[in-house]
Amino acid sequence: MKYYKNKPISSSEITPSYLFYARRKFMQLVGGATLAAIMPSTVWANDKLSASQNVTYNLKDELTPYKDVTSYNNFYEFGTSKEDPAENAKGLKTRPWSIVVDGEVKKPKTFDIEELLKMAPLEERIYRFRCVEAWSMVIPWIGFPLNELIKQVEPTGNAKFVEFISLHDQEQMPGQKSSVLEWPYREGLRIDEAMHPLTLLTMGLYGELLPNQNGAPVRVVVPWKYGFKSPKSIVRIRFTESQPVSSWMQAGPNEYGFYSNVNPDIDHARWSQAKERRIGEFFKRKTLLLNGYAEEVAQLYAGTDINSYF
Ligand code: MTE
Repeated sequence: MKYYKNKPISSSEITPSYLFYARRKFMQLVGGATLAAIMPSTVWANDKLSASQNVTYNLKDELTPYKDVTSYNNFYEFGTSKEDPAENAKGLKTRPWSIVVDGEVKKPKTFDIEELLKMAPLEERIYRFRCVEAWSMVIPWIGFPLNELIKQVEPTGNAKFVEFISLHDQEQMPGQKSSVLEWPYREGLRIDEAMHPLTLLTMGLYGELLPNQNGAPVRVVVPWKYGFKSPKSIVRIRFTESQPVSSWMQAGPNEYGFYSNVNPDIDHARWSQAKERRIGEFFKRKTLLLNGYAEEVAQLYAGTDINSYF
């Protein structure tokens, strides 16, 4: 399979994923009408990435439109406003790309992106995605559980945490010329959180390779935590004995904790987390404990006061 970035393609070659999903919905509504009439003749999209649907985790909520998922982003390496990443990440070179996996592991290894794409069966998972800024989306991600990669490198008994490190390249990432965060972007998880089957190593969304602004070519998605715990464009995964310090903890230790589990009862230092604005909706929704994934992940925090995990 060849990968071309942002290739112009005609609708006769491929149904772009957002139209595919729009069409699926439309068919459900009207039972299939003259769809050709509403299809544009040429569209821009990334290469297709096929994956089987994971029925266990797929949410039934309405999907956030492709356009919003790919044009309302946080990716400070490309600017601090929501529109910046789609505009400024166009030139990010995502091939060749590899992830170094090292630290407290018996078998350190460098994974090439092409190898990652074939390493484990790709799954489509429709997850809620809740940003710390109190907005949310529902996104059909494509990837495989991070634990598939972790098992290959065999963490040692000292590996208690996992640190993720994003690309550091001022030439390609103009936002890194600003000191808004300490670069490279760094995030971390406890090892049992990283091993949890919901934690997804993500290479695509909406049936295609990740657009650059969404963290191409590979990112992590942790659906029960605030969005900043899902690092983009990662180049290194390091296993450590002590808890890593993330870029956000460094920037605002009173505002951004290591755990940052979605919790409507714990306010952010400057705003409430009780409600959220689902992008595309008018009325706010109540935020769910652990972003609605309590049944799956609450046991990770058993025996501890969940309110202290900020
Ligand atoms: N990863 C990197 N490298 N740089 C960032 O600025 N922003 C985080 C997270 N991962 C960020 C990052 C934040 S705050 C959010 S809400 C999500 O990415 C946004 O992901 P999305 O643009 O795909 O919705």
